[in-house]
Amino acid sequence: MAVLIRSTGSFVPDNRYSNDQLSAIVDTTDEWIRSHTGIGARHIAPDGTMTSDLALGAAKSALEKAGIGPEEVDYIAVATASPDYFGFPATACIVQDKLGASKAAAFDVVAGCTGFIYALDTVSAMLEARKARYGLVIGAETLSRIADWADRSTCVLFGDGAGCALLENSQAETDRGLKASILGSDGGGALDLYLAQGMRDKTFDRGEPYQDFPKIVMNGKNVYNFAVKAITKLIGDLLEKSGIPLPEFRWIVPHQANLRIVQAAAKRFGLPEERFYLNIQEYANTSAASVPIALNEIAEKSLVKAGDPVMLLGFGAGLTFGGSVLRY
Ligand code: UT7
Repeated sequence: MAVLIRSTGSFVPDNRYSNDQLSAIVDTTDEWIRSHTGIGARHIAPDGTMTSDLALGAAKSALEKAGIGPEEVDYIAVATASPDYFGFPATACIVQDKLGASKAAAFDVVAGCTGFIYALDTVSAMLEARKARYGLVIGAETLSRIADWADRSTCVLFGDGAGCALLENSQAETDRGLKASILGSDGGGALDLYLAQGMRDKTFDRGEPYQDFPKIVMNGKNVYNFAVKAITKLIGDLLEKSGIPLPEFRWIVPHQANLRIVQAAAKRFGLPEERFYLNIQEYANTSAASVPIALNEIAEKSLVKAGDPVMLLGFGAGLTFGGSVLRY
């Protein structure tokens, strides 16, 4: 018995904005963005397309590849920092309805860019504990809606998209599946990366509706330092916990926040950069969606075969960090 990734899917909007295109509306350059982050472009959801629409596209793709009907799904978890509605209802419920997943329980996971890793571990544990069979784990974002387009130090970093893993609690004798997981947090850094909504100091008795749009605020340097520490510690701890030696890993799939963070981790472990799967050049930082989009690309390009060890790594708002080791 094992919980394994049966299939993956992704859905990224067609609208692509290169760094040069962005520099027409933001005081920035292609040279600065590439040299500081590795980002070359990002995709932006068109007006009217919500996070649930991207999530739906990714989920449909994963289900179609597996030949599984939506009515067979037991759980839907959507990890997102940019839900259709802040607070409630859960974006996962909107996906459940649009998908026609009639028996599924649906909930959102809020763990910033680590959201997909948190959701993966949660749904995997639920499938095992409840002896259920299928779970959709989705990371989906429309960060362009909450980016502060007046702050060049953050707005150039983000993009929109969704990725999905269909988990199966398999009864078969197999060495495949999720092998180890680590989740952690450091809420002391909560205000290093947060969504400013101005709600905390408002009280109802003023009777003024809140007018401002929510927007991302980040202390880039603090988050950068946290990320480098988190990713290197995660790799070490996951190697120990999984018992799988580093040279055996076919891919390490990190959250795609900054090429320099990955380069620092690669150097620390004496690994060639090519062992880390990167697509930040094309999609920028899609927060909770970045790991499943990358994982789906690896699968679609046939860069991984059944049983290959793969490590997934996340870090972000919370602050949170987490990683998983699986035999694909
Ligand atoms: O996904 C969640 C996790 N997030 C992350 O992991 C992000 C972690 N942080 C980072 O990746 C980096 O801190 C950033 C990419 C956000 C920033 O890189 P940096 O090397 O720390 O740049 P900086 O903020 O220190 O800015 C250096 C200079 C400043 O100019 P001065 O003061 O030196 O004259 C900025 O004003 O670069 C300037 N700058 C820009 N210039 C052109 C900042 N943003 C831009 C820009 N275009 N977009």
